[in-house]
Amino acid sequence: MADIDWDTLRSHALAAMERAYAPYSKFPVGAAALVDDGRIVSGCNVENASYGLGLCAECALVSSLAMTGGGHLVAFTCVDGNGETLMPCGRCRQLLFEHSAPGMLLNTVSGIKTIDEVIPDAFGPSTLAAFAPTDPANETTCEACQ
Ligand code: THU
Repeated sequence: MADIDWDTLRSHALAAMERAYAPYSKFPVGAAALVDDGRIVSGCNVENASYGLGLCAECALVSSLAMTGGGHLVAFTCVDGNGETLMPCGRCRQLLFEHSAPGMLLNTVSGIKTIDEVIPDAFGPSTLAAFAPTDPANETTCEACQ
């Protein structure tokens, strides 16, 4: 974890930010993350005339993660239109948590932090697993949901 190339991650986030579609807020965002297999995924925010439907940059990032082979996020950075480090919003911290590797690092406005520091005591897959269905009829047979 110590040898994260933050400069490279940041350059991917900046490139993503340049692709942002943010005509309403005029607040472009780019995010990039290192995956546990070494690849880098990124994303930009994509807004909508129906304002509430806008997608944060992290949404695109996790979609790209899934589309390019899955895995877990090891390190993350996010930038605004000035290239300044941006904290992921609350919803996006939850999104990132779901796909985080243990001890995932985030470049934040107050330094490098772990995922557990930016979303403590998170609700997540283990919360659901702890409430295991006892009725076999409730168990899913959908392979995509495993
Ligand atoms: N935004 C992100 O893309 N990620 C965040 O973590 C914070 C906010 C976007 C959403 C919207 O398009 C714009 O920033 C202004 O809120």
